[in-house]
Amino acid sequence: MMDYRALGRTGLRVSALGFGCGNVGGLMVRGAPADRERAVARAVELGINYFDTAPSYGDTQSETNLGLVLKSLRPNVLVGTKFRIDASDLRDIPGAIARSLDASLKRLQLERVDLLQCHNHIFERAGKEPLSADDLLGEVVSGLEKLRVQGKLRFFGITALGDTAALHRAIDSGRLDTAQVCLNLLNPSAALEVPSGFPAHDFRNLLTHARGRAGVIVIRVLAAGALTAVETRHPIAVPSVAPIATGPDYQADVERARQLQTLVDEGHVSDLVEASLRFPLASDAVSTVLLGYSSLDHLEGAAKALAKGPLPREAMDRLSALWRGFASGSR
Ligand SMILES: NC(=O)c1ccc[n+]([C@@H]2O[C@H](COP(=O)([O-])OP(=O)(O)OC[C@H]3O[C@@H](n4cnc5c(N)ncnc54)[C@H](OP(=O)(O)O)[C@@H]3O)[C@@H](O)[C@H]2O)c1
Repeated sequence: MMDYRALGRTGLRVSALGFGCGNVGGLMVRGAPADRERAVARAVELGINYFDTAPSYGDTQSETNLGLVLKSLRPNVLVGTKFRIDASDLRDIPGAIARSLDASLKRLQLERVDLLQCHNHIFERAGKEPLSADDLLGEVVSGLEKLRVQGKLRFFGITALGDTAALHRAIDSGRLDTAQVCLNLLNPSAALEVPSGFPAHDFRNLLTHARGRAGVIVIRVLAAGALTAVETRHPIAVPSVAPIATGPDYQADVERARQLQTLVDEGHVSDLVEASLRFPLASDAVSTVLLGYSSLDHLEGAAKALAKGPLPREAMDRLSALWRGFASGSR
């Protein structure tokens, strides 16, 4: 049975497992049309009701393909997409967001999206990225509010990547409905305090800021596949990926994932995929856990693992010890 959770203060309830239509697991970008439709139909049957896409996934192909399936199946699901602001958009941020959303709606064949999210990483000062936290809380939010009034979106949020302090400030403002948060067994710092020297970006308990304010959509729960502890990729997956907020490269992530095998060997879980998917459920601030799929088997396996519920206390305690090992550079 699928578990449903409140999406922050939106009044929406989302399935604990979400459907990531990104470029990493290639189903909605490079999958055959019949496979895409079968997977979405099966996801709906399993109770999944949140589908996440973006214009940049497969260079608009993900939105187009999701739109085709939605038109064919007409499922009762929630759809979220994103926009990105480039340096050339800074003269007219609300206009750029509106144009991006119009193009997304056309590809998705929808009149409105349930969720529109900023895809830019957020820093205190613009530089590495064109948007600063002040831009986000100023022109971006006011542009999004206008689109909400026009009925083109129901809720809006961010990708919670960038400077931790800027992300905390943005979420604390209470003006964002949702945040996509990177949380996995290689980087638990958004949910838990990590030991000093922990080898990953420190989100410093971002979830405590989100609780009661923004719905949390977990991303990269398998660290793009590294948490399978297997380096070879599915034939339709993207051949290589850059880690987000974990190790320096995919291979380093896979190697670290292998150090978590103890959890399986000691009988806490049947495999690392199960451990990874059940871990974020332990936080009540988490609304949904997105996963990228390359096959129907991925979807079936994930639904089965998630149905077991949050990781039990003993497994969490074992993980804490393994994480201390990561921080000290030993096993
Ligand atoms: N806002 C943002 O900036 C942002 C960033 C990243 C992700 N996202 C969202 O989050 C979603 C998920 O992220 P992601 O796809 O990048 O990473 P992910 O979910 O951590 O990893 C996906 C990969 O995990 C493997 N996998 C999935 N299910 C499996 C299963 N049951 N058993 C074994 N392996 C399995 C597959 O690897 P193989 O294909 O190699 O087998 C798949 O490609 C995206 O689709 C997107 O919607 C958003």
